[in-house]
Amino acid sequence: MKTDTLPRAVIFDLDGVVVDTAHLHFLAWQRLAQRIGIHIDAAFNEQLKGVSRQGSLARILAAGGKTQRFTQAECESLATEKNADYVGLLAGLTPADILPGIGDLLRALRQHGILTGLASASQNAPQVLAALGLQPAFDYVADSGQITHSKPHPEIFLTVCDALNVAPQQAVGVEDAQAGIDALRAGGIFAIGIGATLEGADYRLDSTGALSLAVIGQQWARHQADI
Ligand code: BG6
Ligand code: MG
Repeated sequence: MKTDTLPRAVIFDLDGVVVDTAHLHFLAWQRLAQRIGIHIDAAFNEQLKGVSRQGSLARILAAGGKTQRFTQAECESLATEKNADYVGLLAGLTPADILPGIGDLLRALRQHGILTGLASASQNAPQVLAALGLQPAFDYVADSGQITHSKPHPEIFLTVCDALNVAPQQAVGVEDAQAGIDALRAGGIFAIGIGATLEGADYRLDSTGALSLAVIGQQWARHQADI
């Protein structure tokens, strides 16, 4: 494959793109919500994907009509409780939890000299990457603690582009969250969506198993012909 027909960088979301953890976030939020008398289902969870911990709690409280019910300190304690549950669910995470196709794709990107970045809203991203043995696979991992604006703001993706010294127009992003697709579009980055319900992606697949360097190359070539 000729490298001039490929993007200069591919930036990955973590939860639900690199690793099968999106359902663990949902389970931990569902248990926390239930404890405070709020029911959330998988459809509602689509609105939580890609959203920060405190942002997710705010959405859950709003959905349950309980926004004013808890003090700031209580909200922090609820978020801490959810995180402790989530971290417990992560125990035993191994490279076997890397989603289909992602390991091969990361290797192929390296072989072709295409830069790789990670843009995750999760404060647990470093531990998750370590458990998967994937730290060396990324040229730059954004630190969510340095980001002021959560997805759908493009800040985290633009931070990765900056660090990789790549213009947003030379990069591809891969996301499973609507907030993430919106962030990529807002940043001018070609957006590949993973999941059935995503709107506005430049290209969409049902699962990561169908994602490969060849697919990225085809879509990139189509995109270059369009602009
Ligand atoms: C995102 C997940 O990757 O990280 C969200 O899609 C999650 O569901 C967010 O809320 C923050 O994660 P953490 O690990 O910092 O609570
Ligand atoms: Mg995600």
